[in-house]
Amino acid sequence: EWSDSERSTIASVWGKINVDEIGPQALARVLIVYPWTQRYFGAFGNLSSATHGRTVLNALDKAVKNLDNIKGTYSELSQLHCDKLNVDPDNFRLLADCLTIVVASAFGSALSPAVQATWQKFLSVVVAALSSRYF
Ligand code: HEM
Repeated sequence: EWSDSERSTIASVWGKINVDEIGPQALARVLIVYPWTQRYFGAFGNLSSATHGRTVLNALDKAVKNLDNIKGTYSELSQLHCDKLNVDPDNFRLLADCLTIVVASAFGSALSPAVQATWQKFLSVVVAALSSRYF
């Protein structure tokens, strides 16, 4: 499914991401641009959402390390977001898009169109995996 060049591109982008900065920034952007997502983060939205931003990026590490089984890697996480957290799965794509925007602003010209296309392909597989237990 993944070519060698895609594998090395994903690993290289991931290696340059500062989880503690990019994670909270991406989640903050989701909450501002799509305010209905604030309902998932309760009264202390800002606090717990910054934590979740970091949590999400730490969880992405598992996908980067299991490129050939992203669906299996996220099976339980998908079920948790569906059954326990009741997160609408459309939100996964919104977060993935905000993450790409934040990564693009942080990387500047280091994120060439080809690199960005591979990164977005990776995130679309992640989004599909997180949605897989909803159906
Ligand atoms: C919890 C990952 C997207 C809402 C979690 C946890 C992980 C995670 C690892 C902790 C699970 C545990 O405690 O066992 C991800 C990943 C995402 C994603 C990888 C997408 C790439 C979202 C989105 C929302 C959301 C889009 C809502 C808009 C929550 C909430 C919790 C949670 C409310 C529980 C509170 C917390 O831990 O902050 N998520 N998540 N998640 N997720 Fe997500």
